Amino acid sequence: MPCAQLIRMVPVAVIGSGYVGLVAAACLAELGHEVVCVDVDQERIKLLQSGGVPIFEEGLDALLARHRGQRLRFTCNLAEAVRHARVIFIAVGTPQSPTGEADLSQVESAVISMCPALDSYKVLVEKSTVPVLTSQWIARTLRLNGALEKNFDVVSNPEFLREGSAITDFLYPDRIVVGADTERSRQLLRELYQPLIDGSYYRRADRVDGPADLSGGVYYIETSTNSAELIKQASNAFLSLKVSFINAVSNLCERVNTDVEEVARGIGADRRIGSRFLRAGIGYGGSCFPKDIRAFGKVAEAVGYNFDLLKCIEQINEDQQTGFLKKLRTALWSLKDKRIAILGLAFKHGTDDIRESPAITIVRKILAEGSRVSIFDPAAMQNCRTMLPEGVRIQYARDEYDAVKGAHALVILTEWPQFSNLDLARLHLLMSYPIVIDGRNLYSPAKMSAAGFYYYSVGRPFSEPLSEKYAFALDHTQSQHSLDEKMALP
Ligand code: UDX
Repeated sequence: MPCAQLIRMVPVAVIGSGYVGLVAAACLAELGHEVVCVDVDQERIKLLQSGGVPIFEEGLDALLARHRGQRLRFTCNLAEAVRHARVIFIAVGTPQSPTGEADLSQVESAVISMCPALDSYKVLVEKSTVPVLTSQWIARTLRLNGALEKNFDVVSNPEFLREGSAITDFLYPDRIVVGADTERSRQLLRELYQPLIDGSYYRRADRVDGPADLSGGVYYIETSTNSAELIKQASNAFLSLKVSFINAVSNLCERVNTDVEEVARGIGADRRIGSRFLRAGIGYGGSCFPKDIRAFGKVAEAVGYNFDLLKCIEQINEDQQTGFLKKLRTALWSLKDKRIAILGLAFKHGTDDIRESPAITIVRKILAEGSRVSIFDPAAMQNCRTMLPEGVRIQYARDEYDAVKGAHALVILTEWPQFSNLDLARLHLLMSYPIVIDGRNLYSPAKMSAAGFYYYSVGRPFSEPLSEKYAFALDHTQSQHSLDEKMALP
């Protein structure tokens, strides 16, 4: 039986067709609801109407194609979308303001614009990441602009979507948090999420496959709106804390010559701690963690609480990038006029997003010290071309091997799976110096040493090439092709 007959369909409007809005719109249509997605950007809406997808996200293409023109429409007409809806998701941008707080002007403008269309009871749902107490500001703004109290409630339903797995994070969540202060709004949100709450979605033959069997239903948490807003900010702060904590530990590991991977495995095996988000590296980035942690700090400041721990998390993150650069200097002595191969620009694998990417910060610093860079990333190069324009000192490569030709060092900055399976013999032949500085711990020091590399990674012992005897044990015959490539160098 098709799902629309199994569940109560709820008409939904999603305001904002950015990353969060598009994923929410596609997934709510997937659950069987009638969804209209609105944006002020006419070009973007035209693109979406004509079958285009403005962002790179695993599975989003297919889900939009499945529902576009059926249960999912795109429009610039906010009033029409709001009139049609019983639940309105606000998924507009909440960028960082120059002083560190979240800039909520797009939220305010969307709320004011929808007032005249609030002609019957509707629930407004905050989906964008907003600071605690925002729901109260939204309600106040609605009242000040003539909306009748009986016609709305404001609910907080934070998203916990990771880029690269946002579709399955939405459909197979660890938990759904709904912060609502009235029973009528709680009831409507339960209807909306019913297929996930009762597990019926997971029994559908045409479901999107996910990482877990949730046929018993998801963990559904109802709280006050203030608590839900706080849960979102505190969750991201806690995850950033885990990353900064293991990065701080990685620095200790380097000083006592031990391996952070072993230490993280030992720590993470304690179920009270958990093994996830304990991967040491070059620090966290992306559109959420850096901005959210600053905004959370500003909230604490505004209510008079000294939450210094948040500042330490940020400081460790910054220091991790500086420390990584030091490794490159240690390996190469001076960076002036060196040729550095860069693998990875995205803030993590599985995305083309370069916002607050530690990789970009590191590349800029390398350039500032006088090196030339040859860069490869399987998804994010297009997004970088304005920020780091191609020229004498910056080249974009065709692939990993093209990037390393003649390089004095290879620097790995994003953990794309394909970067962990490189043909090391070919790499060795193509590079000028066999030096690899790995910011994501993709290789074992022993393997790199056996392959003839000077290998620096994060929180693990430095390794040198084994004696010539072993280095030459590598099967260079496979790499005749690489030798030819190297000979062809300018
Ligand atoms: C994050 C949250 O996970 C998500 O719940 C929220 O809704 C949005 O912000 P995202 O920004 O997509 O999602 O990335 P995430 O996978 O959480 O990684 C964030 C950063 O931390 C990345 O730069 C990543 O490389 C880094 N990281 C993560 C580590 O360095 N080590 C880890 O162990 C985990």
